[in-house]
Amino acid sequence: MTAPRGQLWGGRFAEAPAAAAAALGRSVDVDVRLWPYDIAGSRAHAGQLHRLGVLDAAALRAILEGLGSVAAELASGAFVFLDDDEDLHGAVERRLLELCGPVAGRLRAGRSRNDQIASDLRLYLRDAIAATAAGVRAVQRALADKAAEVGDCVAPGYTHLQRAQPVTLAHALLAHAWALDRDVGRLVDGRRRLLAGSTLGAGALAGNTLGTDPGAYAAALGFTGVAANSMDAVADRDFAVEFLAAAALLGVHLSRLGEEIVVFSSVEFGWVRVDDAFSTGSSIMPQKRNPDVAELVRGKTGRLVGDLVALLVTLKGLPLTYNRDLQEDKQPVFDAVDTLALVLPAVAGMVASLRFDRERLAAAAGGGFALATDLAEELVRRGVAFRDAHERVGALVASCEQRGVDLGDLAAEELVAALPDLAGADLGGLVDVGAAVGRRDAVFGPAPDRVAAQLQRLRASLDAPLNGAEEKG
Ligand code: ARG
Repeated sequence: MTAPRGQLWGGRFAEAPAAAAAALGRSVDVDVRLWPYDIAGSRAHAGQLHRLGVLDAAALRAILEGLGSVAAELASGAFVFLDDDEDLHGAVERRLLELCGPVAGRLRAGRSRNDQIASDLRLYLRDAIAATAAGVRAVQRALADKAAEVGDCVAPGYTHLQRAQPVTLAHALLAHAWALDRDVGRLVDGRRRLLAGSTLGAGALAGNTLGTDPGAYAAALGFTGVAANSMDAVADRDFAVEFLAAAALLGVHLSRLGEEIVVFSSVEFGWVRVDDAFSTGSSIMPQKRNPDVAELVRGKTGRLVGDLVALLVTLKGLPLTYNRDLQEDKQPVFDAVDTLALVLPAVAGMVASLRFDRERLAAAAGGGFALATDLAEELVRRGVAFRDAHERVGALVASCEQRGVDLGDLAAEELVAALPDLAGADLGGLVDVGAAVGRRDAVFGPAPDRVAAQLQRLRASLDAPLNGAEEKG
């Protein structure tokens, strides 16, 4: 059987694949998006074959011109895919044959779709990770700008979603930004690692006998190094797992921010208002204003986690080296990239649009016995063992609760009557929420001065180059 031209094998087969088998194996609809990287790899490969005398100067010129035309057709959308085009590599070779004639059949020497696809996906992720990280940076900038805008506004801090201790709102906003900072670090770290492992020249698994130079491909394509082992080069997709793991965790972080916006924008809290531009209405309830963007951010995290799990399960137990299962690596990667490309700008815009109600936040921050720890720690400063201080303040809270008052509602005499060791203390300052936040002035604390320094530190991180100096291409 002679292979159809978009299929890169066939000589030893008596029969064409069954339609169902061909349909199952066809991946061109998915992997077409890798074409710029596949063409770049083919150009580098043509150069190697020329150096080795497999392509003479005329053949090299014809093939490079042909690749240019194929690229132009793919870029413009004029490229016509045929039913026989099994995957991107087959489609490109088929079209090159149509454009250049039989000389195009020389280009496949010494390479395999295995080293091609491993290279293509790495190069795709090089660019996609840079774009994703830039998107995360935009969310961080929105959080940093919002933190600067709200200044020393106080807010309740929670544990167990129960009022715990007061913080500054900026401190809480920046907490999310720092988590995202580590996500950027993970993304960029994985990118650096994948760029160190150029795969072209590894062929199917063991290289070739023609003498192509792996380092030359690496240099031509912008890799920083060559994989150490040709079998590992074509077999592993750990670089894609690393990206998906970073993406999933990024999604988890964004979902926590989204959840807080959903909860805190409800009428029950009423601390923050999401702009109309990032809210939606109800088809039946005219009054509704729903935080759909925040909810979708939360919801999309399910996909991102699913993408990671899908690839891990695909890889589990695969023997060395390439197995066709690996063809399933691309959809989760593309889905995660696409999902984040939708989510990140929406989150950045939503965060920028938030308007906080400072009065309500201040009232909530000081209420709910949030200053109980401050009283106990003042007792400690006055020599009381914390164990006893905890008990005494706890008893005072219980009695206040029965009377329906908060600590700040107590008259000075009542406070001192309940906690005699407080005699002579600055009682007003003790139950003032702004003062309480200012007292928490450890280097990573919520005191406004510390938060201002923290914000500067974050801005320095945001301004640092994403990719480091290690990248060449
Ligand atoms: N479409 C394939 C993939 O995405 C390319 C490699 C196919 N290699 C093979 N030996 N069948 O993984």
